[in-house]
Amino acid sequence: MEGKDLYDLICMRRSCRAYLAKQVAPDLLLQVIEAGRMAPSGMNVQQCHFIAIRKQELLEKIRALMEQIVANLDATTANPMLAQSIKLAKVGKHNFYYGAPTLIVVANRRDNANNVPDSAAALQNMMLMATAVGLGNCWINNLRWNGDAPPIRQFLEEIGVKQDEAVYGALALGYAVDAPKTALVRSGNVVDIWE
Ligand SMILES: Cc1cc2nc3c(=O)[nH]c(=O)nc-3n(C[C@H](O)[C@H](O)[C@H](O)COP(=O)(O)O)c2cc1C
Repeated sequence: MEGKDLYDLICMRRSCRAYLAKQVAPDLLLQVIEAGRMAPSGMNVQQCHFIAIRKQELLEKIRALMEQIVANLDATTANPMLAQSIKLAKVGKHNFYYGAPTLIVVANRRDNANNVPDSAAALQNMMLMATAVGLGNCWINNLRWNGDAPPIRQFLEEIGVKQDEAVYGALALGYAVDAPKTALVRSGNVVDIWE
């Protein structure tokens, strides 16, 4: 593979926030998860725990639990995206994973000093693989922010998150409603090179 091909793929990846109801084919799901499994981890501990939720009943359960939490947040927040989520949650129309048919939860051990970067490496690999196989995807952080709220924690343990694990991110996955967008201009991110 040429370096340019990988760069083009990196630029093609965009956050998708509208999905078709069609479920992700099992072989594509496995390819995406495999890309996450192949991510590096500090000291090679390999402690990521991937849990793919595809059952509509479970997706709806976690959506409703999260909606209750978001509806009770302070609506005077200066964060416009959060303000919009609170507004939607108050009228029962908030879906933190945007109705994606598959949500891959990434948990890791709380006592792993690299739990955040290890999970992030896995999520980035999965986003790129999803893009490569034509699947819309979006990093979802709500389960990280609210994973210890009692009803959410209970749900997470029901789907297999272990007592010594916490959620560090999740990936919404599905077929995008809209055609692929061009890369967002990156005007931040500072680079210094010393030669
Ligand atoms: C660590 C991290 C957390 C994110 N959490 C969320 C999230 O909870 N919900 C969401 O809609 N997008 C989330 N995003 C997506 C970003 O908003 C998005 O990547 C950014 O706006 C750039 O747009 P692009 O992904 O289309 O290039 C997250 C991205 C990262 C890297």
